[in-house]
Amino acid sequence: MHKWIISIISLCLFAMFFGQELYSDHGRTVLITGASHGIGLATAERLAKNGHKVYAMTRNPSTAMDLQALAINNPLVVIRQLDITDTVSVESAIQKILEEEGSIFAVINNAGFGIFGPTEMHTLEEIQQLFETNFFGAIRVINAVLPSMRERREGRILNLSSISGVVPSKGMPIYSATKFALEAISASYANDLSPWNIKVSLIQPGPVVTDFESSTCYGTRLAKEENPYLDILFSRRQSWKQVMDSGQAPDEIAAVIQTVLQDPHPNLWVQTSPSVSGIMENHYKDLSGNVRIPH
Ligand SMILES: NC(=O)c1ccc[n+]([C@@H]2O[C@H](COP(=O)([O-])OP(=O)(O)OC[C@H]3O[C@@H](n4cnc5c(N)ncnc54)[C@H](OP(=O)(O)O)[C@@H]3O)[C@@H](O)[C@H]2O)c1
Repeated sequence: MHKWIISIISLCLFAMFFGQELYSDHGRTVLITGASHGIGLATAERLAKNGHKVYAMTRNPSTAMDLQALAINNPLVVIRQLDITDTVSVESAIQKILEEEGSIFAVINNAGFGIFGPTEMHTLEEIQQLFETNFFGAIRVINAVLPSMRERREGRILNLSSISGVVPSKGMPIYSATKFALEAISASYANDLSPWNIKVSLIQPGPVVTDFESSTCYGTRLAKEENPYLDILFSRRQSWKQVMDSGQAPDEIAAVIQTVLQDPHPNLWVQTSPSVSGIMENHYKDLSGNVRIPH
């Protein structure tokens, strides 16, 4: 009898001291939104190579050629249709995956796009559309997956934020607002969900070389002849384009995401490069908020 007790105590001690090593994310089911291009596509590729079953969600599977090519070469990649702006689409897509897989270990809320220019240039509908994808879309996905994660007392939520979600972007204030909002709710989800061992991380890249710049929209509220921002707009766009062209490769962000998934105790904030960390550090030193405003 005492042998049993010694074995149980040994197992407990082993788990306590080596719990980190026992942890493995390998082979678990992961869902990625906006997987047809850029960071989403690179992440699907990397995680599938790492043995994850990857549900790669896209609005239009039939036109997602690169994703189709990836899935042909890797049976762990499953392409599914998902429009994150449609609650019914989100709930039914996630329900189907749960029926097939039994669980979803992690969701990566990656789908998003940008809108460029001063706030006054955009119609309210354009602003709302951006929030529908970048902010409400993530909430729809998170809320659809949470009951099953809570039941299993395990789960990961990774939200693609941005340096613009911490340091307001002069060129893209509305985009920044969507990422600020995502940062706020992610911090709150992280707190509220910790009793169920559900970990939330915000991935905070600077510029990344993807299709993001070409899919960015411009406001239509002001006609060209009455737009007072044209000069500013032109120079900001030129410098933004240069910055974007010198950004990180999507696979670098995918590698960071993989590391976060493998970490049993991931950070809430995850910068993807030392330069992003440096910009954030400086930002938080300026308690007046005046450093960035011209006088
Ligand atoms: N590139 C950067 O410099 C950068 C920097 C920081 C953060 N980010 C963030 O990283 C994420 C991925 O961006 P990316 O750079 O990889 O851009 P991307 O190459 O343009 O890919 C974006 C993906 O999001 C989905 N998407 C785009 N517009 C959408 C819309 N109107 N409604 C719903 N889904 C839409 C698309 O998915 P489907 O067409 O497959 O549905 C697309 O595959 C975004 O959340 C972005 O804000 C990007």
